Amino acid sequence: MIKINKKTQLGYDIPYNVESIYEYAAYTSDGKYKYLIKELTDSEEDIYIKVDYFCDKFKNVDKIKVELSPLCEIMIKSDKSPLYQNENKHCFSPMYYKLFKDIKNEHLNVLEIGTSYGHSIAGWRTFFPNSKIYGWDNNKNFLVKVHKIVPDAILSVCDISKPIESNIVFDIIIDDSSHAFNDQINIINSLYKNTKKYLIIEDVFLHISVAEFDKHINQEVKDQFDYKFIYPYIDGYEDTYDNNVLLIFTKK
Ligand SMILES: C[S@@+](CC[C@H](N)C(=O)[O-])C[C@H]1O[C@@H](n2cnc3c(N)ncnc32)[C@H](O)[C@@H]1O
Repeated sequence: MIKINKKTQLGYDIPYNVESIYEYAAYTSDGKYKYLIKELTDSEEDIYIKVDYFCDKFKNVDKIKVELSPLCEIMIKSDKSPLYQNENKHCFSPMYYKLFKDIKNEHLNVLEIGTSYGHSIAGWRTFFPNSKIYGWDNNKNFLVKVHKIVPDAILSVCDISKPIESNIVFDIIIDDSSHAFNDQINIINSLYKNTKKYLIIEDVFLHISVAEFDKHINQEVKDQFDYKFIYPYIDGYEDTYDNNVLLIFTKK
């Protein structure tokens, strides 16, 4: 047993040992577990935050092991896919495939907030062939580029750090914009009214607790939606970024 005595960056002790961490990490592969132990014993500060997250926050989240999916290929140019050719990839596309595969041929309104160059908008265009694909971003220059690669995407300039209003009802809303907590809360408390099926916040930071989200999410949202945090992993893929969590709201 390896005892962890160091304080986290946030200033409090981690009252856990590696054995208890193993319980929380048990959903992942043996290889992953060994890697986690190795990271812990290396005593890196940012790893401690991760450990803190595992121990404290994971009690309330879904622990699911996901498989590669066709959407991972489609999203290969976006960091949503574990096949993305860059370090900072996430394992979101396997989770999205699981959620959306049965509705992908329906006529939906799908919005992504935060388009960047349009790689994920292009992915949604391919994955939802019969849907309207909307993209919002606060940077007009990005939207010009998105229009070039997805000419039929419906694009708008929108700053999600300001009050948000829209008359459109979206079946699916995915936020991949600023990743800032206040903006994420703004999106949740504003756009739940516009959400028919799923409202998804990507890149929830590890150091922000479930309780902190609970405190800021309006009661109307809680009345109308089930929500849960999901930390999708795939064997063999590791992302050293701390914001790897999805917050998924599903209309009741
Ligand atoms: C991580 S990138 C999006 C990547 C894209 N979804 C993909 O998977 O290829 C984040 C985007 O959010 C936009 N963004 C940042 N802050 C924003 C804000 N306050 N309001 C709207 N968009 C914002 C940025 O301009 C950038 O295009």
